[in-house]
Amino acid sequence: MTIDDVVTKADLDATARARTLRLGCAVDAFALDDPAYRSTIARLFDVVTAENAMKFAPLRPDRGTYDFAAADRVMAFAEEQGMSVRGHTLAWHSQLAEWVSEADEGEREDILREHIHTAVGRYRGRIEQWDVVNEALDDDAQPRTSPWFEGMGIDYIADAFRWAHEADPSARLYLNDYNVEDLCPKSDAYYELVQRLLADGVPIHGFGVQGHRIVGDPPTTMGENLQRFADLGLDVALTEVDVRMPVAESEPPSREQLAAQAEDYRSMVDAARAVSFCSAFVLWGLSDAHSWIPDTFAGFGAAHVLDEKLQPKPAFDAVFATPGPS
Ligand code: XIL
Repeated sequence: MTIDDVVTKADLDATARARTLRLGCAVDAFALDDPAYRSTIARLFDVVTAENAMKFAPLRPDRGTYDFAAADRVMAFAEEQGMSVRGHTLAWHSQLAEWVSEADEGEREDILREHIHTAVGRYRGRIEQWDVVNEALDDDAQPRTSPWFEGMGIDYIADAFRWAHEADPSARLYLNDYNVEDLCPKSDAYYELVQRLLADGVPIHGFGVQGHRIVGDPPTTMGENLQRFADLGLDVALTEVDVRMPVAESEPPSREQLAAQAEDYRSMVDAARAVSFCSAFVLWGLSDAHSWIPDTFAGFGAAHVLDEKLQPKPAFDAVFATPGPS
């Protein structure tokens, strides 16, 4: 059975899309040259995120150079297909060019302002949502140390949003992080941070919940958590969903593992559908053949809704074909 037997975009219109839950996928700018990859993404999704191409290091390999080639490919693909784009990401501690850490702390503010004005300005009016600050808090729910935090203090967060808003007043601007699916100390800290930013008049419009999970441990209070951010007037989005599992090199995942994974995806889809407004549900990778997981989490894999041959797994149905509450 191929993916063509399972679903067409028209089927999706009748299911997830009709319930206004837009589905998205992180894309590899260069994999878009592969016709199967390109057409599958085009057929299944409404929203795309560049998996890496819009991050600081690829865009700014050195201080004097901007390289928008890969980012432009993703934009061109999205526009050709009429898909929305989530820009990812502007201020982050990771995938940051080394020259930034080497620059004097006093220069960081100018560097970040110029970067945000240039990147957001280039795509003004064309990127629907930007992850302005990514992973601002650490695992203890404290401000995360980064070259931006070291150079500018906690104000880098508010400044980044203001600069992004100057560069594109129509873009919806997000905070984005992992391990904030449920009610927990980290999501509580974001809830407080968002309230402070709003009280200070900072142009923040969304809270992005990444949704990187391990199989068999579905979120339990996600609906309530998302809704409290929505009640502050924010859009919420699931921005980087995957559910990784332990894998043995020679054996495919078991039926039980695949069923448990489908349940985990389903619980996140259900929570996203239940919240008053969820702007997108974005998968962090199309298939197990295009996955960041094995390189990052040794011994884990099989995290996505299509397998290595682009064939649907039970999780695919959980995301695309499950009737939700009417
Ligand atoms: C990951 C990409 O998927 C990898 O290809 C890259 O090597 C490292 O970054 N949180 C994020 C994403 O916000 O940008 C990360 O993406 C995954 C975790």
